[in-house]
Amino acid sequence: MKRLAVLVSGGGSNLQSIIDSSKNGVLKNIAEVCVVISNKPEVFGLERARKENIKAVGLDYKNLGEKEYNRQLAEIIKAEKADLICMAGYLKKLPQTIVADYKKRILNIHPALLPKFGGKGMYGHFVHEAVVKSKETKSGATVHFADENYDTGNIIIQKEVQINETDSPQDVAKKVLKIEHEIYPLAIKKVIEGKLI
Ligand code: GRF
Repeated sequence: MKRLAVLVSGGGSNLQSIIDSSKNGVLKNIAEVCVVISNKPEVFGLERARKENIKAVGLDYKNLGEKEYNRQLAEIIKAEKADLICMAGYLKKLPQTIVADYKKRILNIHPALLPKFGGKGMYGHFVHEAVVKSKETKSGATVHFADENYDTGNIIIQKEVQINETDSPQDVAKKVLKIEHEIYPLAIKKVIEGKLI
C-alpha cells in the first residue's frame, strides 16, 4: 500500500477524489492518503481530511516564511514516510531539496492541456479565462511529474474536453474539474504500477 502526502491550498476537491478512489475506486488496496498539508492554516481541504480521519496539517507560510515553511513541509512528508507527493490545487513551488529527494515521485494536476496555458500565474480561473479568450475549441486537464518550476515535467495523463463558443470561463472550469477528478487517481495508479512509457 503506497502512502500519499497530498498538498492543498484550497477546497481540496481533487484531494477528495483521491481519498474516495483509495476507499472504493482504482486506488483501493493500492494507495492511501497518509497526510494532507496546506500552506494556509485553515482551508476546506484540511476539513475534508479530518472528516476522513486523515492527518491534516495547516502550515502558515505567511508567518513561517519560505525557509522555515519548506523545512517543516519536508520534515512532515519524511516523518509520514510518504511514497508519493500529490500536489492537488497546491499553489506553492516546491523547494529544490524536496524535488531532489522525491525525483519522479511528485505529481501535480493542472487544469489545462499543458504545455499550453501553463506556467507562472496560470492557475485557477486565470487558466480558463485565457482558454476562452483564445477561442479554444477544447481544453482539459493534465497530471504531470512536478519539479521546481511551474507546470513543467513529463506528462503522465492528459484528457480533453470540448469547449463551445458560448462557454464562460466558469463553464470551462466546471467541465475541466470533472476531468481532473477522473484522471488524478488514474495517474497515481499508473505511476505506482510503473506503467509509464
Ligand atoms: C482547481 O482549479 C484545479 O484545477 C487546480 O486547483 C483548483 C482547485 O482544486 N489544481 P481543488 O478543488 O482544491 O482540488
